[in-house]
Amino acid sequence: MNRRTLLAQAVLALAASTIAEPGPAAVPDGLSDHAWRSGRSFGCAVRGNVLLSQPSLRAAIAREADTIVPETELKWKQNEPAGGRETYAGAEAIASAGEFRGLALRGHTAVWHRSIPDWALRQFEAGRGADLVLRRVRGVVAHFRDRIVEWDVVNEAIEPEDGLAHGMRNSPIGKAGGRGLIADCFAAAHDADPKARLYYNEYGVEYASPDEDARRVAVLELLSFLKARGAPVHGLGIQGHLTVGNRFREKVFRSFLADVASLGLEIRITELDVSDRRLDADIQTRDNAVADAARQFVGVALDEPAVAGIVTWGLADPSSWLDTDRPRPDGLVQRTLPLDGQLRRKPLWQALADGFDHAPRRA
Ligand code: G3I
Repeated sequence: MNRRTLLAQAVLALAASTIAEPGPAAVPDGLSDHAWRSGRSFGCAVRGNVLLSQPSLRAAIAREADTIVPETELKWKQNEPAGGRETYAGAEAIASAGEFRGLALRGHTAVWHRSIPDWALRQFEAGRGADLVLRRVRGVVAHFRDRIVEWDVVNEAIEPEDGLAHGMRNSPIGKAGGRGLIADCFAAAHDADPKARLYYNEYGVEYASPDEDARRVAVLELLSFLKARGAPVHGLGIQGHLTVGNRFREKVFRSFLADVASLGLEIRITELDVSDRRLDADIQTRDNAVADAARQFVGVALDEPAVAGIVTWGLADPSSWLDTDRPRPDGLVQRTLPLDGQLRRKPLWQALADGFDHAPRRA
């Protein structure tokens, strides 16, 4: 019995009080059913332009996920291409797709240095960045008040390589107010929707390398600062853009998760995918290596009780950002997501299902 079968039975039981009908056929378990049984959630990012033309993909997402995350439609550039004219049509179109009724909506992302519209960048240069960014946070979070359950309030504010204090990124947001402004963004988001869970989201904290060591230290420092300031931060989003061949050391990642948890924070893997760009073309080799890399990572992540669930950055292969931003040298589509182009489950799907099945149940 899985979540959807239960749901379907509840609905049918209601109907049966008036009409006698045979019971529902069992619906095959999706990843969210596996997640649910471990006390967690499974979601995926979705891209409006891909979805609108693919009912079968929408159905697959509804089958596999309990949470959806618009991949680009909640970024500042998309929401306010011209100053003072907010538009949320892209995200609304995703949220209102019939197949997604009943799924939770996760918000990504109110503030990201790479999604500041050009007109706003000019305002930052004129010293009006802090006010503007807080207005942006309030605007988008208030628009989706009581509908978006969890927000990446701030994304990727750290870059130790930039050489600034506390490992902060040398970005317009950093210059406009740094850590104090980040704390204010969380307070603004909380005012705009007191029920929403508020996350700081970051990449490059999974692997054992000097760069990622430094980023982990800076992330912990930022989170400790936010907590000490009383900022309403509830969780850390770990993006989890994995690459087969990178050096993963279980001990390092495990102790980072424990350090975050000890701050009283929840953790979510927010953008999981696995790049196969260093592997030969053979599909079976790639699928197995991608699944192995995920299995290792997810096994450690889901062993930490603070980890509330996993979101993959897309569900089916041909639409991954990796094929444009980090393509394979031979130009082949990467085998980076749980389903293939025909929406068939791949070894990566099985690695995630097994990860949830073997994880200690979360209270
Ligand atoms: O929608 C327009 C389309 O109208 C236009 O014709 C086309 C021409 O380039 O661009 C389309 O927009 C693109 C959009 O994705 C939708 O496909 C943007 O150019 C492109 O920059 C955008 O890339 C997204 C990127 O964030 C920047 O927003 C990727 O899809 C998305 O996967 C990526 O996601 C980020 C996370 O937010 C943060 N973590 C890293 C992750 C990967 O970079």
